[in-house]
Amino acid sequence: MLLKTVLVLAAGCAALASGSPKPLQQGLSSRIVGGTPAVKGEFPWHVSIQLSLDAQNWVHVCDGAIVSNEFILTDISCRVRPDQFGRVVAGTLNWTDPGSIHTVAENIIGEPFFALLRMDPPFEFNSDIGPIQLPTLNEETVPGTAMTVSGMGEIAPLEPSQELVKLDVTVVPKTNCESVYLWQNMTNVICVEDGDNEAGMCTDRAYACPLVFDGELRGLFSYELGEDNQCVPTWFQRSNELRKSKIIGGTPAAEGEFPWHVSLQFFDSNETWIHVCDGSIISTEFIITDQICIFKPEKDGRVVAGTVNWTNPGSIHSINETINNEIGFVSLMRVNPSFEFNSNIESVRLPDLNEESLPGINSTVSGWDESAPFVPSDVLVKLDMPVVDKIKCYSSYPGVNLSNLMCAGDSDNGTGMCSYNAVGAPLVYDGELRGLYYTQYPTCGNPGLFIEVSLFRDWIFLNTGV
Ligand SMILES: *[C@@H]1O[C@H](CO)[C@@H](O)[C@H](O)[C@H]1NC(C)=O
Ligand SMILES: *[C@@H]1O[C@H](CO)[C@@H](O)[C@H](O)[C@H]1NC(C)=O
Ligand SMILES: *[C@@H]1O[C@H](CO)[C@@H](O)[C@H](O)[C@H]1NC(C)=O
Ligand SMILES: *[C@@H]1O[C@H](CO)[C@@H](O)[C@H](O)[C@H]1NC(C)=O
Ligand SMILES: *[C@@H]1O[C@H](CO)[C@@H](O)[C@H](O)[C@H]1NC(C)=O
Ligand SMILES: *[C@@H]1O[C@H](CO)[C@@H](O)[C@H](O)[C@H]1NC(C)=O
Ligand SMILES: *[C@@H]1O[C@H](CO)[C@@H](O)[C@H](O)[C@H]1NC(C)=O
Ligand SMILES: *[C@@H]1O[C@H](CO)[C@@H](O)[C@H](O)[C@H]1NC(C)=O
Repeated sequence: MLLKTVLVLAAGCAALASGSPKPLQQGLSSRIVGGTPAVKGEFPWHVSIQLSLDAQNWVHVCDGAIVSNEFILTDISCRVRPDQFGRVVAGTLNWTDPGSIHTVAENIIGEPFFALLRMDPPFEFNSDIGPIQLPTLNEETVPGTAMTVSGMGEIAPLEPSQELVKLDVTVVPKTNCESVYLWQNMTNVICVEDGDNEAGMCTDRAYACPLVFDGELRGLFSYELGEDNQCVPTWFQRSNELRKSKIIGGTPAAEGEFPWHVSLQFFDSNETWIHVCDGSIISTEFIITDQICIFKPEKDGRVVAGTVNWTNPGSIHSINETINNEIGFVSLMRVNPSFEFNSNIESVRLPDLNEESLPGINSTVSGWDESAPFVPSDVLVKLDMPVVDKIKCYSSYPGVNLSNLMCAGDSDNGTGMCSYNAVGAPLVYDGELRGLYYTQYPTCGNPGLFIEVSLFRDWIFLNTGV
C-alpha cells in the first residue's frame, strides 16, 4: 500500500536522517543525522517562511530561496494566504532570531509546483542576504553531480530545529526514484542520495529546501513518502522550468509604435533603476497601471516614457501622486514634470464606460520581455491577443472571480503571456486601452488575464478629468 502524504503548511524543512533506505517510524522523533550546521553567510538565499495565529508567536513552516530583491521561490503549498498571519525571515541561521522580516505582498503561482512570493519590503542584500541564480532552461543535472541542500531540521515531528543545517548529496539516475515513488511523474525531477547512501531527507512534511549546484538553484525539496515509508532516495522538483517565463511569440515593437507605453522603475538596493511594471499614458499628467505596481514611498519609483528600451529613457518623470481604486485592480499616477507629447510620447484613448471587450476583437499587448525570470530584457515586444470568450476564460481560471477581468490570447497556438515583468502591460484595440495585464494567477499556457479598463471608466474620469 502506498502512502501518499500531501502536506499543508505544517512544520520544518528537512530532517536529515541516516539509513538505507530509512524507515520512518510513526511517533519516533526525527533527528538530524548526516547534516552539519551551516555557517554565517553560507546560504544567504535561504529564508524561513513562518506562520502565526496571533501575529506574535511564529513557527517555521517552510523554506525558500531568494531569487531577486523582491521575490522568493518556494513550493506551491507554502504560499501565504491573505487571511493568514505570515512572514518571511532572511539573513539568519536560527529562524527564531530573525535577520530581516518581510511580509508577503503577493503570491504568484508557477504551475504546477512553485510559488513566487513578493516581499514587502524588498530585500536589502548584504553578506547574509542575497539571491541565488536560476539555471538555464533545460539544463540537465547528470547523475554523479555533487550538490548541497540546506534546511531547518527537526528535533521532533512537527517541531523545527532552530538551526540551519546542510547536507551534501549526489544526483543518481531517476530510475532510483521512479522505483520508490511509483505514483509520481518524474519528468522534471532530480533524484539524489548521499554518497554512501546513508543520509537523506527524511520527513513527511518538508517543503522547498533549496538544492544548489555551483551557485545555481537546481531544485526544491518536494518530498512524499515512498513505499514502506522509505526516505531515500529523495526527489527535488527542477527549478529550470521557470526559465520559460516570457512573452511567448512576441516580436519587437518599433520606435513610436506604442507611444503610450511607459516603464515603471524601482530604485533598487543596488542603487540602479530597474524596470518592474508597465503603464499607459492617459493624459499629459496621468498614467494608469495595475495597483500591484504602486511605490511606497513614491520617490522609490519613476516613470520612463518615449522609448522601446527601458534602459535608455526618452523622458524621466517622478511620481507626484498615486490614486488607488477602492476595490483594487487599478491605480493612477500623476507624473512630474508632465509629459510633452511627440511622436514617441502620446496618450492612449480610453473606452466608453462598460464597453465590454467582445470575443474576437484583435487586440495587441505591448510589454518588456524577459531575458530570465525577473530580469527584464531591454526590448519592448508586442503580441496579438484576440479577446477570448468568458466560457473559455472561466474554464482556464476555475474559481477565480472574473467580474473585473477578461481573457485574451490564443494560447492554443503556443503564444501568450507568461511573464512576471509585464504587470500592467496595456492591451489595446483600435487605439483604445481595453486591458491591463494581471498576474495574480498563472497565465502560462492559458489565455492572458487582463483588467477590463472600461469598468473603471467613470472612476478614471472623476480623478483625472479624462
Ligand atoms: C536561536 O535563537 C534564540 C533566540 O535568540 C535562542 O534562544 C536560541 O538558543 C537559538 N538557538 C540556537 C540553536 O542557537
Ligand atoms: C509528466 O509531466 C510532463 C511534463 O510536465 C508531461 O508532459 C507528461 O504528460 C506527464 N506525464 C503524465 C503521465 O502525466
Ligand atoms: C549591482 O550592479 C552591478 C553593476 O551594474 C552588477 O554587476 C551587479 O550584479 C548588481 N548586483 C545585484 C545584486 O544586482
Ligand atoms: C538599450 O539601451 C542600452 C543603453 O543605451 C544599450 O546598451 C542596449 O544595447 C540597448 N538595447 C537594445 C536592444 O537596443
Ligand atoms: C504635485 O504637483 C503639484 C502641482 O505641480 C504640486 O503643487 C505638489 O506639491 C506636488 N506634490 C508632490 C508630493 O510632489
Ligand atoms: C480580426 O482579424 C481577423 C484576421 O485578420 C479578421 O478575419 C477578423 O474579422 C478581425 N476581427 C475583428 C472583430 O475585427
Ligand atoms: C497565434 O495566434 C495569434 C492571435 O490569433 C496570431 O496573431 C499569431 O500569428 C498566431 N501565431 C502562430 C504561431 O500561429
Ligand atoms: C466578484 O467581484 C464583484 C466585483 O468586485 C463582486 O460584486 C462580486 O460579489 C464578486 N463575486 C463573488 C462570488 O465573490
